[in-house]
Amino acid sequence: MPQKSQSRQSRSTTRAGKEQQYEVRMEQCIAGSPFSNLERLQNFSLYTPRQDLTNFLLRYEIFKRVLGVQGSIIECGVLRGSGLMAWAQFSAILEPTNHQRRVVGFDTFSGFPKLSKQDRSSESDQARPGGLAANSYDHLQECIELYDMNRFVGHVPKVELVRGDATRTIPAYVKDNPQLIVSLLYLDFDIYRPTLAALKHFVPRMPKGAVIAFDELNLKDWRGESIAVLETLKLREYRIERCSFGSVMSFAQIE
Ligand SMILES: C[S@@+](CC[C@H](N)C(=O)[O-])C[C@H]1O[C@@H](n2cnc3c(N)ncnc32)[C@H](O)[C@@H]1O
Repeated sequence: MPQKSQSRQSRSTTRAGKEQQYEVRMEQCIAGSPFSNLERLQNFSLYTPRQDLTNFLLRYEIFKRVLGVQGSIIECGVLRGSGLMAWAQFSAILEPTNHQRRVVGFDTFSGFPKLSKQDRSSESDQARPGGLAANSYDHLQECIELYDMNRFVGHVPKVELVRGDATRTIPAYVKDNPQLIVSLLYLDFDIYRPTLAALKHFVPRMPKGAVIAFDELNLKDWRGESIAVLETLKLREYRIERCSFGSVMSFAQIE
């Protein structure tokens, strides 16, 4: 079974058998497609699973909230980079001359370093040291180079990858970038400790209008994210919104 299917399967407890069959058949369909690789991607709506299109659209809705807000975008947990590069593409399309909007992705690029007691409820087979390892760093650097070739102001870097355990790299990044303002904090580490570090170091740098987005809030299987949020944010001060067509993603715009 392809890696992508494994990752979705391992993260969700709501997947039906029919959906697994769909993934096997879609793999076969893509493998047998008469189109070139580029043509397949140019016609992505033929092949891209509805769930991934939904995630892309959800991110678009969130991005629009911060379009007029100063600051960089922080992706907490990069994996294979689809979320990170969605922000980058929205920025290139909707605000082509905003060279101040950086998109910064934090990941070990070797999966979870370790889990803490706050994460122990997860039943996912990926909930272990080394779980969700994608080894995508070098490939992503190449994709970022190509992205820069196909956008305005492409000589000013926009996307940055920060490799290593985020409990260490986040404080170091903030120290090295005292100018950093954050317009969008996307929490998708899945686990407690790095989420806590992200909230502690980035939220004080977020102005009114900025958005904190949650990939696992109120999710029993990955409860470390919720615990970190409950320990750091006064929930009653935030309106936690959902898009009507989303499943787990939610977000709060700072008011
Ligand atoms: C659910 S995935 C991220 C998915 C990604 N946001 C996307 O849209 O495809 C979680 C990622 O968090 C990373 N991660 C978890 N704990 C981390 C830590 N302490 N430091 C750095 N990365 C970590 C894992 O390596 C994994 O790639």
